[in-house]
Amino acid sequence: MTPSRPAAVIVLAAGEGTRMRSSTPKVLHTIGGRSLVHHAIAAARGVNPTYLQVVVRHERDRVAAHIAECDPDCLVADQDEIKGTGRAVECGLQALPADLDGTILVTYGDVPLLAATTLRELYAAHEASGAAVTVLTAQVPDPTGYGRIVRGADGGVERIVEHRDASAAELTITEINSGIYAFDGTLLREALAEFTTDNSQGEKYLTDVVAAARTRGRAVAAYVLADLWQTEGVNDKVQLARLGVELNRRTVEQLMRAGAIVRDPATTWVDTEVTVGQDTVIHPNTQLLGATTIGADCVIGPDTTLTDMEVGDGASVCRTQATLSVIGPGASVGPWAYLRPGTELGTEGKIGTFVETKNARIGADSKVPHLSYVGDAVIGEGTNIGAASVFVNYDGVGKHTTTVGDHCRMGSDTMYVAPLTIGAGAYSGAGAILRRDVPPGALAISAGAQRNVEGWVLEHRPGTAAARAAASALGGGSAGSGAVGEPQKPAQVGEQGESA
Ligand code: UD1
Ligand code: CA
Repeated sequence: MTPSRPAAVIVLAAGEGTRMRSSTPKVLHTIGGRSLVHHAIAAARGVNPTYLQVVVRHERDRVAAHIAECDPDCLVADQDEIKGTGRAVECGLQALPADLDGTILVTYGDVPLLAATTLRELYAAHEASGAAVTVLTAQVPDPTGYGRIVRGADGGVERIVEHRDASAAELTITEINSGIYAFDGTLLREALAEFTTDNSQGEKYLTDVVAAARTRGRAVAAYVLADLWQTEGVNDKVQLARLGVELNRRTVEQLMRAGAIVRDPATTWVDTEVTVGQDTVIHPNTQLLGATTIGADCVIGPDTTLTDMEVGDGASVCRTQATLSVIGPGASVGPWAYLRPGTELGTEGKIGTFVETKNARIGADSKVPHLSYVGDAVIGEGTNIGAASVFVNYDGVGKHTTTVGDHCRMGSDTMYVAPLTIGAGAYSGAGAILRRDVPPGALAISAGAQRNVEGWVLEHRPGTAAARAAASALGGGSAGSGAVGEPQKPAQVGEQGESA
């Protein structure tokens, strides 16, 4: 009976990756918001193997810790000091149950565009043909550096020859070994046990399993993949960028096929995990990163970076940087807003221009339209925060919270000195510095009465442009010298700078 799933996928990731010239292990470099090895693990998971295992050696602890974060059920095996892809698989097998049989797939931790669908197809083709080995191959214009697929007179795969070991005739072969295979597990184990490191590189070559199968009279098949990107590995930072661009192209195309409207795919960067609802428009220079989810019918961008964000249906977010926050349905953010972690903007709420928020819950229909900082705040529903206000959350030692009730009308240039509570339906005058709680329905005023020192400019700044303008406005007449004007009315309710 054919088992419905592979016994194991072994992902090889023990190589050093010296050409990356990096203090970060190669497989921990990211494209599309995921490490290379995470991409490989995700593809392998997609074929539902009984065991999923990554073979590591270089920077073992760092890589193993990362793998545990990506996929807690993924096994990690250690390769010893014996080199080569064959040895890597042998070490992997030694860490799996000794009686494990069935089909074993092998992939690489540095080949990030390999799709789960391709692995499923490889597995299905392998099971259908009954071959002992099925090699994922590709026809490439420039096969330099790759192992070549040597086919026999009957068209079957005879062996794989490494570039450095190939004859002149073999070097002209353009069908290459991707390094991804399906193996009969028993044959794989037997063949590897026979290999030595007695070759030009002093390595155990996994590729030699092909010839070993043929010697035993077993069939070897090739599964030719037309999509070359899926077999391309990352060896240096140029390839990292190249594959990153292609992955992004694919991700953005998927979004559009699922119903998003992307104005400029080339300047729209979307991480692998991001979802975008139907008819949402994404304008140029927008980055949707991490675990961001965007609803339907939104307008996002231009010039916007959203990381780990949740954006509700029908929201608009323009020229904004936002992280780990929630923007409610129909809400509006920006242009030029900065949402730091813990911001929650309610339905139809507004965070406007030159506004910074952090750990701030802003209720439905509430607005912070202009030039403000809102930190450590809980604002109710239908409240308006006047322009140029600051939630003064930090006393130099600790952070404190300000709570503002529903339907408040708070004046412009109000300082909320936390800890502070503003009751429902309260008002504040412009320029208020609120240090004490405001009861519901009260008007809070703290700005002192205004006084005008008439003639001060003429007296103290004679000969300036201001003095000349003042003199001319006063009709050249006598400006009082130093007289103190009548005290004026206190700050009035109409000064709130409330947005329409
Ligand atoms: C290998 C294949 C070659 C194929 C090419 C495709 C062999 C002998 N050759 O060559 O036919 O065309 O891949 O890219 O298999 N690795 C380990 N442990 C090791 C050595 C390598 O885990 O001791 C891992 C690396 O981390 C890497 C992968 O195996 O992910 C491939 O290793 P690499 O050295 O790049 O193999 P190539 O010589 O390019
Ligand atoms: Ca390689």
